[in-house]
Amino acid sequence: MPSDPEAYLADLKRQVLDSWESGADFFDERWGDQGDEFHHGVFAPAAERMLGLEHGARVLELACGNGGFARRLGRQGIQVLATDLSPALIAHAERRTETIADQPVDVSYQVVDATVEREIVNCGGPFDAAACIMGAMSMLTLRPMFGGVWRVLKPRGIFVLVTLHPSFATSGYKFVKSENEDEPHGLTVSRYLSRYVTHGVTNSAQNEPQIYFHRPMHELLTDAFASGLVLDGMEELPAPEQPMEDSRLMWNVLPDIPMAVALRFRRP
Ligand SMILES: C[S@@+](CC[C@H](N)C(=O)[O-])C[C@H]1O[C@@H](n2cnc3c(N)ncnc32)[C@H](O)[C@@H]1O
Repeated sequence: MPSDPEAYLADLKRQVLDSWESGADFFDERWGDQGDEFHHGVFAPAAERMLGLEHGARVLELACGNGGFARRLGRQGIQVLATDLSPALIAHAERRTETIADQPVDVSYQVVDATVEREIVNCGGPFDAAACIMGAMSMLTLRPMFGGVWRVLKPRGIFVLVTLHPSFATSGYKFVKSENEDEPHGLTVSRYLSRYVTHGVTNSAQNEPQIYFHRPMHELLTDAFASGLVLDGMEELPAPEQPMEDSRLMWNVLPDIPMAVALRFRRP
């Protein structure tokens, strides 16, 4: 840990915000209205399955990006308050939602830092469910999110968290290309149990790398359980099999290795 831990942590938080703010136009264009191929092909369907929402349900979304999942739920008659750290991404989300011509949706947006429990509690409630898709890796700490979600959920309410798989996709992994047709491609993992900060890009066209906070699965779950949430569902998710836009990424040829995990928690 550096000599001034508080300043170091504050600087990391600032870097997270800066990277999403400066990348907002790039990501909005890349994600479009319904999210990229990972989002609409794998993550959003998994979150939807695990949420099992009924028409009229009230949902809080954290780290919503430009609102692809919120609009997806809104089109099903679900009422969504979608939130994100980045004001620029929230502005994109609002613009894209205002221009839905086919049907009005009950989706509203708010800037919320999910690493600050009070900001989540200020979203109101009670909500039938909450969701966070691919946001946890950008969060320096998860306890405030779990604590805040617990406080705004109805009893028996559900929280679905979809995140890069800590065992394979935020650990120190490297793709291993097999030269032999009979052997599958694979990956090696060189570090997993310790927490660490890393930088990565989701796309080679991206200027600024994103910061990822790696935490092993037991730490993620310990933070969730400390809030009182219980785990009642889990899916491990492989990437879609279509070719990756970034040729350095080989997830599409690793159908037996989950790049992401969807966890369903319940407030007892
Ligand atoms: C990989 S994107 C995912 C966006 C969207 N959920 C999706 O699946 O397309 C990560 C998002 O997390 C947001 N984010 C990062 N840190 C956050 C925080 N502390 N609180 C809320 N959102 C945060 C970023 O602004 C960005 O929109």
